[in-house]
Amino acid sequence: QLKRKKMINLVLFGKPGAGKGTQANFLKEKYSLKHISTGDVFRFNIKNETELGKLAKTYIDNGELVPDEVTINMLKAEVEKNLDAAGFIFDGFPRTTAQAKALDELMQYEGMQVDATIALEADDEVLIQRLLERGKVSGRSDDQDEEKIRNRFTEYNEKTAPLTEYYKKQNKFHSINGVGTIEDITERLSKVIDSLVAVNTMKDK
Ligand code: AP5
Repeated sequence: QLKRKKMINLVLFGKPGAGKGTQANFLKEKYSLKHISTGDVFRFNIKNETELGKLAKTYIDNGELVPDEVTINMLKAEVEKNLDAAGFIFDGFPRTTAQAKALDELMQYEGMQVDATIALEADDEVLIQRLLERGKVSGRSDDQDEEKIRNRFTEYNEKTAPLTEYYKKQNKFHSINGVGTIEDITERLSKVIDSLVAVNTMKDK
């Protein structure tokens, strides 16, 4: 129980292409956290042609959100597999109010909480360029054309952006400039995380 108290659980928030996955890869090493990317789990399942993959594929290909029930069950299973972690970085989850509520319930049930949600901010045009570039190299089905990318932004604006208010009400919302070098952005994120760790340490004393 003592270990769980000292855990730090973060939500990395932001539009498609904001740099959530890129930054999570650095932060997970730096703070020894378990990185859970719902997009990566879906893509792994699509590649391996699992039932979950088959369910998710059409939505992802069209730049639409996978239904909440499917996504929430998958996320719960990922968290429960990793309860020995020192904390979590959630990347791409939650994306709807129902998902945010489910995450709060799950965290509470497991004796944890979301400590902070940190948004990476960048203009749409910057993000579209990043994603079109990646589409050329990675072949990600949802990065292939601008129309699909814009559809992901529409989904974000309609369903995900309202979570800003959800976390602001809980005093857990932080946002940083997501434009600059990858190192600079890691530095900006680290400042926010270090201040959270300091507060958590003081509370434990
Ligand atoms: P997901 O995989 O989460 O995709 P996304 O949100 O669209 O995010 P991306 O991976 O495109 O962007 P990112 O912010 O991680 O940026 P990245 O670091 O990769 O979701 C895919 C789909 O799965 C969804 O559309 C949905 O269908 C489904 N899904 C997933 N979660 C779901 C959920 N919770 N509910 C329902 N459905 C869900 O960077 C992007 C690019 O930019 C890279 O090429 C990177 O190298 C580059 N880059 C990063 N940082 C910089 C920088 N500072 N400067 C220049 N380039 C940079």
